[in-house]
Amino acid sequence: MLSATTAVLRNCVRCNAAALGGVAARLKHTLPDMPYDYGALEPYISAEIMQLHHSKHHQAYVNNLNIAEEKLAEAEAKGDVSAMIALQPALRFNGGGHINHSIFWQNLSKDGGEPSGTCLY
Ligand SMILES: [Fe+2]
Repeated sequence: MLSATTAVLRNCVRCNAAALGGVAARLKHTLPDMPYDYGALEPYISAEIMQLHHSKHHQAYVNNLNIAEEKLAEAEAKGDVSAMIALQPALRFNGGGHINHSIFWQNLSKDGGEPSGTCLY
């Protein structure tokens, strides 16, 4: 689970290696590919629901996060601190939605299975 979560979070990071060298290079967030077909969880979850949830719902978080980050970059360029602060709720909401959904897809499996390790219940 930890490695899958780490991989998801790594895929959500916007800055590439150039940014680590001090050159600000912003990349767009993208909708991650599903790790299985939309219909893989039928009859428990329909393909239609999975496709809607992934391609519309999750995509909306990705699109709105990119928009909020573009606005943040504009505000940063202008030194507009009030605008930067005003964008924080949109960044949290859409960034959180994107990360949570990216983890969610990894937590479902067509193969089922049993929990491993220590359970807390
Ligand atoms: Fe959702």
